[in-house]
Amino acid sequence: MGQITITSDLNTELKQFLSKNNYSQIAVLCDENTYQHCYPLIDIPDHIVITIPSGEEYKNIETCGKVWGAITDGNFDRKSLLINIGGGVIGDLGGFCARTYKRGIDFINIPTTLLAQVDASIGGKLGVDFNGLKNHIGLFSIPELVIIDQIFLKTLSKEELRSGFAEVIKHHIIADGVAWKNLVSKSYDQLDWTEIVRHSIEIKRKIVDSDPTEKGARKLLNFGHTIGHAVETFLLNTSEKLLHGEAVALGMICESYIASQRDMISEADLHQIIKYINSIYPIHRIKDEYKKEIIKYALQDKKNEGRQILAVLPSSIGSAQWDCEISKEDILDAINYYNQM
Ligand code: GLY
Repeated sequence: MGQITITSDLNTELKQFLSKNNYSQIAVLCDENTYQHCYPLIDIPDHIVITIPSGEEYKNIETCGKVWGAITDGNFDRKSLLINIGGGVIGDLGGFCARTYKRGIDFINIPTTLLAQVDASIGGKLGVDFNGLKNHIGLFSIPELVIIDQIFLKTLSKEELRSGFAEVIKHHIIADGVAWKNLVSKSYDQLDWTEIVRHSIEIKRKIVDSDPTEKGARKLLNFGHTIGHAVETFLLNTSEKLLHGEAVALGMICESYIASQRDMISEADLHQIIKYINSIYPIHRIKDEYKKEIIKYALQDKKNEGRQILAVLPSSIGSAQWDCEISKEDILDAINYYNQM
């Protein structure tokens, strides 16, 4: 795993890193929000800035063309550096552009959302969406450095912070039942974010170190995502948008329900999961006419093998199993259960 630094002094960390590496040129990738709110907080020596529109809909090969175009126009060579300042889209897309430009230049992630700090910027999944399919084109490659500073969490809306928190809940359910008890005993508004981020990164790091390219244990990190991703991706084509973490929260409830139907988890665990998630996320009921389409998206999931839909199902709070085959009927049944809550 590359270097991940959790700090309250981002500028010193960055300066130290840059002084050890003699980069020929530096480009900074922002979206329009991070350019306004986060970029001004960072001291970067002589560089160019590339700004792209914010939003998942721009996580595509056309946007990569703009990034490659800007660094090509700037005559960037293979000893240059790209610094990604933003959430998951910026880190995934920027990293992808860096690793494919002239067969690969270095990049740093400075994640500015909770989601990117505890998940997207850790573990080297890089890529873009393609033909409506999320992260369909990409590769695994770890950034040279990830710098995490809590200062950016103050720039987030309540909804965005809550969206990132779904990945924190996920980490607890798949890997840490003891910390879960501590988490649910506290009010969401009084959480210590530094501790939350540190603990979540530790869980993700251990899992990724054991399986960097997702042949086995790393699949655990997809808990809540088989159904969550399908719902999120489908809703992109409607006027009902759900943030990634809101969709994952829905997905975790549905996938826990499927586990309980198979007696993999107890009713008590299922109810604890539902109670905690529902105390933080509003219920987003799925319209009947959407259900078939959502199942089609679940069939396209990268984790599947052949026509089988594979999901991660919890076996208790604190452990889970990957590669569990689930049927279209299981998904439908789980969505119906969720809709009736
Ligand atoms: N976000 C899941 C993973 O990094 O594997």
